[in-house]
Amino acid sequence: MTTRSEIRFVLNDRNVSLDQVSASDTLLDFLRIERRLTGTKEGCAEGDCGACTVLVGRLQNGVLRYEPVNACIRLTASLDACHVVSVEYLSGPNGKLHPVQQAMVDHHGSQCGFCTPGFVMSLYALWMGTPEPSEQQIETAVQGNLCRCTGYEPIIKAALAVNQFGSPAADHLNTERDTNTKRLLALRDSKRVVTGPAGDQAILPADVDDLADVLAQHPKATIIAGSTDVGLWVTKFLRPISPAVFVAHLEELQAITTTDDGVVIGAGVTYSESQDVLAKVFPHLTEYWDRIAGWQVRNMGTIGGNIANGSPIGDTPPVLISLGAEVTLASASGTRSLPLEEFFIDYGKQDRKAGDFVSSIRIPRAKSNQIDAAYKISKRRDEDISSVAAGF
Ligand code: FES
Ligand code: FES
Repeated sequence: MTTRSEIRFVLNDRNVSLDQVSASDTLLDFLRIERRLTGTKEGCAEGDCGACTVLVGRLQNGVLRYEPVNACIRLTASLDACHVVSVEYLSGPNGKLHPVQQAMVDHHGSQCGFCTPGFVMSLYALWMGTPEPSEQQIETAVQGNLCRCTGYEPIIKAALAVNQFGSPAADHLNTERDTNTKRLLALRDSKRVVTGPAGDQAILPADVDDLADVLAQHPKATIIAGSTDVGLWVTKFLRPISPAVFVAHLEELQAITTTDDGVVIGAGVTYSESQDVLAKVFPHLTEYWDRIAGWQVRNMGTIGGNIANGSPIGDTPPVLISLGAEVTLASASGTRSLPLEEFFIDYGKQDRKAGDFVSSIRIPRAKSNQIDAAYKISKRRDEDISSVAAGF
């Protein structure tokens, strides 16, 4: 297997190649400390406030897709062959404000301004996909953004008005889409990436077979998909995660297959990507899914990761167990499937042997006489961990 040691991505309009990226390096520190792009703010450093929101574009089946994510818990090594867009990239020639920024100004959507770049980036992503959103869609889009002084009313009014200030078709992320798609394709070389110093090493396997080989060599590695949990081990607990094996770039783990029997979700599918399919097959999960964290976290976090790390505050295992879901684990010596309920052996202990990784989750369709329900009780309606999560 040929390897390289650089993490290569596009930052705004520049190509970036970083040699020896540590597994625990965060995108937020790279932007603010190394590149002095200080428009992106740090509030909580745990994916809760949205002050650090940036867009990350990635190719999926050849299509470039941009999503808002939390730079504070996004690990730099995971950005290989991605396009990172920070708030600095929004203003036009001679500092002309972007339509989202102009709407925020005209509708008084900012007071101290600390949260504003993060809100602007979330609303930018919303406007690109849904130019004329409803209030409900706006509220869902900014679930992961906290403002402590303006109040949300003017921000929602600004979001409703963005389309009066410009059209997404004329936005540079759309006019430059073909160019950026080619730039990202050129960064893909099917090599394994091994980077970072001994003791803080990051490995990006070339494909799923290579992932099995890497885990056979490093059975105690930390497997990282969306880093919505592991990111906090780094920023809050300063816990070593090396060697860290990144899997979010592996498209083979991102398939969703719907059959007459049920739905099979690849371990690398994010909450956001699974939402529409699950809502169609299991309508009782529609509202529940919007209660998982905020939009930025749903764009990074995966169902596979939520299951694999067995977090006692995981939102998905109770509802998946109640639906009779099965988990498939893979390793260099083959695959095995078991009921999800049996995967969780004890508090913090899962039936995952050294070298195993979660490869997919299968959820059987409801039987004709089956009635399903899912509930989440939390102290705050949005962007909170569950006090109780239940599936019936
Ligand atoms: Fe609060 Fe990143 S700094 S979500
Ligand atoms: Fe001050 Fe939002 S404008 S926190």
